[in-house]
Amino acid sequence: MNHKILDKNSQEEVTSLFASVFTSSEGEKEGRLIGNLASELSSRIDNQEIICIGTYEKESIIGAIFFTRLRFNEGNQVYMLAPVAVSTKHQGKGVGQALINYGLNELKKRSVAVVITYGDPSFYSKVGFQPLSENIIQAPLKLSMPEGWLGQSLTEDPIPTVNDRPTCVKEFNDPTYW
Ligand SMILES: CC(C)(COP(=O)(O)OP(=O)(O)OC[C@H]1O[C@@H](n2cnc3c(N)ncnc32)[C@H](O)[C@@H]1OP(=O)(O)O)[C@@H](O)C(=O)NCCC(=O)NCCS
Repeated sequence: MNHKILDKNSQEEVTSLFASVFTSSEGEKEGRLIGNLASELSSRIDNQEIICIGTYEKESIIGAIFFTRLRFNEGNQVYMLAPVAVSTKHQGKGVGQALINYGLNELKKRSVAVVITYGDPSFYSKVGFQPLSENIIQAPLKLSMPEGWLGQSLTEDPIPTVNDRPTCVKEFNDPTYW
């Protein structure tokens, strides 16, 4: 198993991974939705605003993750982790946690201060995320499940309080995802 930082050339394999994983786990409609999201995000990978990392076994992709930049007026270095997928037959073997940890380490190397995600606290707490109050960092759009708003500091300091509402990359600028 190895990890690679991906570019736009991986659009097809990344899209089909997300579409098939989410179709299996959440049904056809969600599979189409997240497949489209992965397709749009991967067509604009620039390794700055949109970072994508893949896990490979031999030459096949078995996992992938996106990190996208959240922009604040104050210029804080904050990224959002979403979405992440591990191929159905490789789930539950530590691949997802290894991929997330690889990604977090990559962001640390780039001096990113904070990573945020929006998902199941019982899974993301395994890789260091804790519930995050919107009094500290607001979500770009209104959250339907505020208990899923999670964050972690990648420095020795706690997550700083930021007063303005961030903007996300345009692919996430849709209430459906929130
Ligand atoms: C969620 C996902 C990325 C985790 O990757 P993985 O390789 O299966 O996870 P790991 O083997 O590294 O970790 C498994 C641990 O997380 C837990 N876990 C896995 N998927 C979970 C989920 N959807 N919700 C809650 N906990 C989950 C398991 O109970 C397990 O705990 P344990 O190690 O204490 O037994 C993967 O299962 C997946 O792609 N699922 C479908 C798509 C999805 O839900 N993506 C996340 C939302 S964007």
